[in-house]
Amino acid sequence: MDRYAVIGNPIGHSKSPFIHASFAAQTGQTLQYEAIEAELDRFPETVRQFLAEGGKGMNVTVPFKLQAYELADRVSPRAESAKAVNTLILEADGSLTGDNTDGVGLVRDLNAHHVSIQARRVLVIGAGGAVRGVLGPILEHEPARLVIVNRTADKARELAKMFAHANPGFVGNIEGIGFEALAERAGKETFDLVINGSSASLSKDLPPLPDGLFGKQAIAYDMAYGTERTVFQRWAREQGAIMALDGLGMLVEQAAESFFLWRGVRPNTADVLRSLRAAQA
Ligand code: ATR
Repeated sequence: MDRYAVIGNPIGHSKSPFIHASFAAQTGQTLQYEAIEAELDRFPETVRQFLAEGGKGMNVTVPFKLQAYELADRVSPRAESAKAVNTLILEADGSLTGDNTDGVGLVRDLNAHHVSIQARRVLVIGAGGAVRGVLGPILEHEPARLVIVNRTADKARELAKMFAHANPGFVGNIEGIGFEALAERAGKETFDLVINGSSASLSKDLPPLPDGLFGKQAIAYDMAYGTERTVFQRWAREQGAIMALDGLGMLVEQAAESFFLWRGVRPNTADVLRSLRAAQA
């Protein structure tokens, strides 16, 4: 049987085995999908061992996405722009291709909620691995403006520079700033879509965001998810966002894209997301 796995540390609560087992059942594919916790200093060895035992592909999660980018023999353009890999594919010649499906996952989930990026003013919070994975796909959908805000302002500026360079048509409309600069503009510049890609939600923290960020009919999106609404989701609704989504839909969509890369079949995501929501409730 073809074997796949998600590799991370920690990995105990991963929903990926359930998601991929559901995709396999739904599409009539015979495969096995497990969760593997790699020791922090043994990522490459753990991948090699899984492949030697018949593994055909892997999902990679925190904190190994950068190491997976380095391990792959070749990477897709979207993994190159993210400098991070969340999907490894074993090729027939034994080489490893790296791809990144996180950004597509976010964009598909936004589409599923009829949220468009085109011509919208977008604020992205955070400048770590999660954000690097989604900036390329966001820019492909031609927002009117993209501001990246991060606790360490230099990292936001660096990312803005890197992505402006890769998207020359967009120079001038992409900017990286710190939270103080964002607060200084409060009420003067508003956004239609505010995406939280910082890891603050994981520790139930709210990034230091000023009042007055949301424009009319604005949408908030937290790339994190949990059993209850995240602090960011609740804050966004209090601040006037008309919808505040969590990242569970993105998780299912990125998984579907990985499944497609491995198996050549596109699973239906809505049913699987519904089961996860039911389990969450
Ligand atoms: P990930 O792979 O999840 O993106 P990461 O690369 O460690 O993880 O990045 C975490 C991001 O969340 C960073 O942008 C971090 O800000 P710094 O670059 O200043 O470290 C941000 N972050 C973490 N905790 C935060 C908090 N309490 N408030 C605001 N931003 C936070």
